[in-house]
Amino acid sequence: MPQIIDGKAISAQIKDELKEKVASLKEAGVSLCLAVIQVGNDPASSVYVGNKKKACAYIGVDSLSYELPEETTQEELLSLVADLNGRADVNGILVQLPVPAHIDEDAVIRAIDPMKDVDGFHPQSVGALCIGQKGFISCTPAGIIQLLKRSGIEIAGKECVIIGRSNIVGKPMALLLLRENGTVTVTHSKTKDLEEVTKRADILVVAIGKPKMITRKYVKEGAVVIDVGIHRNENNKLCGDVDYDDVAPICSAITPVPGGVGPMTIAMLLQNLVESAAVMR
Ligand code: GUN
Repeated sequence: MPQIIDGKAISAQIKDELKEKVASLKEAGVSLCLAVIQVGNDPASSVYVGNKKKACAYIGVDSLSYELPEETTQEELLSLVADLNGRADVNGILVQLPVPAHIDEDAVIRAIDPMKDVDGFHPQSVGALCIGQKGFISCTPAGIIQLLKRSGIEIAGKECVIIGRSNIVGKPMALLLLRENGTVTVTHSKTKDLEEVTKRADILVVAIGKPKMITRKYVKEGAVVIDVGIHRNENNKLCGDVDYDDVAPICSAITPVPGGVGPMTIAMLLQNLVESAAVMR
């Protein structure tokens, strides 16, 4: 049977490391604060935002919560972001996505001071990653690198295939695997013969957004499979983009859903926040 990559345990370990760092920063007179903004009351966003605030409290950092009504204008949101950019007591600013359709998401992302962009979504953060300079890194792909490293999985020289080319996962994932000296291929909805490409992968990162799409016919025997998807199946149980029961028996390591990639995103958000004080300033 494969190695089950335990994102819950690895994220708990990272949060405990961060808790210690926060305590020593506090002793040195540095305190940290994350501002979290949610516009509207999408139930899934409310759960994510709640978990982010809880995780802040766990490691000993403050959070400021802004729950704005659905009809908030873009101007009002940008004005709040500008206020938070100017506050010396706020280290990180997170606007939970998606924002309502009448607000331009890109304009909001661009408005956040790159020094406080703990999501790593600002074009300056993405550009810095692209050319190997210091900056915040998008949390889900950064979490995947930690999962691989902390599970003893070598990336250098490996054939890495990513399914999905989103700005938040696929593209930064490609840059990070490249930085770790992987040989990287990004596939997407227009890729011809997906199966032929994914079967080359030593490390396969799946971020398609389709429940259980990846069966063993897409996977080389002995591959490491990382599943970024999260869905509810017909029985209301959580499942990923990978058909776990079909794929697990033939791979060397795999992330479960839940308990794989998911818990790492918040751990990396906290890591970015702690770095904002310890490194960036
Ligand atoms: N919506 C879904 N995932 C994320 C995330 O990582 N950050 C933000 N800001 N919004 C999200």
